[in-house]
Amino acid sequence: MDEPEEGYRLPVKFRYGDDYHLAEIISKKVVNGENLYYIHYEAFNKRLDEWVDESRMKLDEIQGPKKTDAKTPVKGQGAPCSRPSSPNGEHSQCSTPTLSQMMKKGPPQKKKKLDEKLMVHKSGSSQIDVTPIPSPSMHVPESEDVEDSMPSAPRQTGSMSAHHDTDIVTRMKNVELIEIGKYRIKPWYFSPYPQDLTELPVLFLCEFCLKYLKSRTCLKYHLKKCLLRHPPGNEIYRKGNISFFEIDGRKNKIYAQNLCLLAKLFLDHKTLYYDTDPFLFYVMCEVDNRGHHILGYFSKEKESSEDYNVACILTLPQIQRKGYGKLLIELSYELSKVEGKTGSPEKPLSDLGLLSYRSYWSQTILEILMGLKPNEHGERPAITINEISEITSIKKEDVISTLQHLNLISYFKGQYVLTLSKEARDSHAKSMSRRKIRIEPKALHWQPKDWSKRGKW
Ligand code: ACO
Ligand code: ZN
Repeated sequence: MDEPEEGYRLPVKFRYGDDYHLAEIISKKVVNGENLYYIHYEAFNKRLDEWVDESRMKLDEIQGPKKTDAKTPVKGQGAPCSRPSSPNGEHSQCSTPTLSQMMKKGPPQKKKKLDEKLMVHKSGSSQIDVTPIPSPSMHVPESEDVEDSMPSAPRQTGSMSAHHDTDIVTRMKNVELIEIGKYRIKPWYFSPYPQDLTELPVLFLCEFCLKYLKSRTCLKYHLKKCLLRHPPGNEIYRKGNISFFEIDGRKNKIYAQNLCLLAKLFLDHKTLYYDTDPFLFYVMCEVDNRGHHILGYFSKEKESSEDYNVACILTLPQIQRKGYGKLLIELSYELSKVEGKTGSPEKPLSDLGLLSYRSYWSQTILEILMGLKPNEHGERPAITINEISEITSIKKEDVISTLQHLNLISYFKGQYVLTLSKEARDSHAKSMSRRKIRIEPKALHWQPKDWSKRGKW
């Protein structure tokens, strides 16, 4: 029997339940004389990767590395510079360095062609097949660990991770735990925080300026000096206790960089690069008498040649699956409406990104279709893809893919026909009744800038 080594595969008992899944060994270490293995469950998202001991491994079913895996990383052979060292050199007692990195674009997706007048029927059959995965409640009391801030069961489908990271360092989670505001959160992926800080059991973040600190004492000391109680930049939206700030990545570079480092802990398929100047950041907060507490954000290129209206989007794990992701998406389309443009999120989407966008697109398009009333002659209503796109600011390709995904579109007597079944209508009504938090366009106070005229951002 082979010794378990990096690149080998074997069944490993999954952390939830008693099932075994084939997993690849990414790395190995010895702690107190015991072998520990960092493993990746094949066909599952990387956020489920973890350290396991041999008691969870079926060692007698071990397989050698795949032949095609010529590049399977070997311990210590990560790409040079993949883990940035402390940018400012030495750390003082409490001071931590900043890091200039930022999300990079993924490749654009191919476009499909379809723009015909669509007839809307209210019969036939179709169904929505966005399958939710049960997940434990994310809300935790003060300073409790958000240990399970990930789907409780692995996903077999929908992973959109574009790059196959062959760098052993960036393939592995490097931060054990973060504490931000009243939450402790277990990160999902690698983020290039300075190495000496990633060796700590907990990384402390100021919830207002997002500076990272090595201890609670340092954080307390920092909070006495830190004047921010809300993100920098302009508040562009406020309704109830929900507020959005617009932050210019050039004017507030340190904040933008800290935000990207935090976001990278939960974003796998984006790599980081150093320049935040070309981006705006829209940070969503919950407001109370202690200040504005970050819930999530999306970033947006100041100028996008591909009509992207979102670069990266994130809700922090403790508030996920409560509708805030769709609130962020809704705001991004409200901005596009003010701009008089259609837009689309930058590709590739993550598995959760795709689920959220599909859900938003489906609900938004069905809202439009359900609102179409037959004319005075009793004729069936007709609408074009272009019209749906103009009303919603959802890019044409996304309208088409959503209609296809919902199985609403068919070709009949030379034209494309939409069939809105009773099931589709009922399902839509049910999902809209669950969608409690919405953007109120009147509460948005925002004017787009013409960045092309500004010379330099
Ligand atoms: N399993 C199954 N369905 C899910 C899950 C999950 N874990 N999480 C969200 N969904 C579904 C919800 O059921 C909901 O659909 P429904 O209302 O039709 O049931 C839909 O996705 C949106 O749910 P929200 O509660 O509005 O969104 P949430 O606050 O969970 O945020 C987001 C979604 C932003 C994608 C969040 O999961 C996240 O931050 N993930 C990590 C970062 C990421 O992957 N971002 C997207 C990358 S793509 C890009 O940046 C362009
Ligand atoms: Zn601060």
